[in-house]
Amino acid sequence: MAQRLSSALSLTGKAIFRRPALTPQNNVFHVPFGDADAVEQQLRIAREVGNDIAAVIMEPVQGEAGAIVPPDDFWPRLRQICDEYEVLLIADEVQTGMGRTGKLWGVEHWDVEPDIIASAKALGGGVMPIGAFMSTPKVWSVMNSNPFIHTSTTGGNPLACAAAIAAINVTLEERVSEQAAEKGEYFIQQLREIAARYDDIYTNITGKGLLIGQHFVNDDIGYAVASGLFKRGVLISGTLNNSRVIRVEPPLIITREEIDTILNRLEDTLQELHASVSTSSVFDAGTQLITPVSEDVIKNAAINGSDIAVA
Ligand SMILES: Cc1ncc(COP(=O)(O)O)c(C=O)c1O
Repeated sequence: MAQRLSSALSLTGKAIFRRPALTPQNNVFHVPFGDADAVEQQLRIAREVGNDIAAVIMEPVQGEAGAIVPPDDFWPRLRQICDEYEVLLIADEVQTGMGRTGKLWGVEHWDVEPDIIASAKALGGGVMPIGAFMSTPKVWSVMNSNPFIHTSTTGGNPLACAAAIAAINVTLEERVSEQAAEKGEYFIQQLREIAARYDDIYTNITGKGLLIGQHFVNDDIGYAVASGLFKRGVLISGTLNNSRVIRVEPPLIITREEIDTILNRLEDTLQELHASVSTSSVFDAGTQLITPVSEDVIKNAAINGSDIAVA
């Protein structure tokens, strides 16, 4: 079991999670996201020095790293490079899958067929913990001779599978990915307009569908915006260990009215930020902008209740 966990953990680009649990691994090579040349270089070096590489694994759009969309030729080139070097291409669709980016699977944006897709999160319809991997018949056939190579105590749990089947049906019947595409386009466009007006607060808005990243000039400003929104009943999430990028990942069934409510509260937050802090101290990178959420804020939020959670 430890081996299976360590294999998965060794893939993360975040040392904060990897280091305490693992001895240094030399069988995983990290590359910059969106840089197909870097992937090819790693594969070439590995081949030259006799390191067998099994697979290239990548998120279609990075989630945790801040809703980063790769260049359009990235995924097609990955497919081509993996074929050339005879390694498997794995799409980590745990965050992007089940419609989040406006297609059922993120890789569909670039018409690429990976050898394996990893799915979880929304696969359980928001109520059931379940993860799954899907593969081509060729990859799947590896298990014909040894079905026990990939087992898990709770694997195939009927209740979780029933929830996943229901989630898949609803996603397809209610055209949830198309909804995400349409709402995401509106949301991103509105956020870009706001960001352009507050260009001393924002550096960028990124994302696809309803996987959106608001990028701020520094951590403190991102934190102040998250805190201001929380105070107004909107819960948005940072990226685990920084607030410079704040993700907006609402439920895909969010309504246009709810999006507008969030945008209004954001606008209100940004206006307050401008009004309450002198320009020079706000925009100095690294300056402590506001103190961590005050007890008042927490008390008010507890009394009022956060009524919109968008991440
Ligand atoms: C892209 C991606 N892959 C994998 C995982 C891990 O998923 P799980 O929590 O189901 O192990 C996450 C979790 O946030 C994720 O965002």
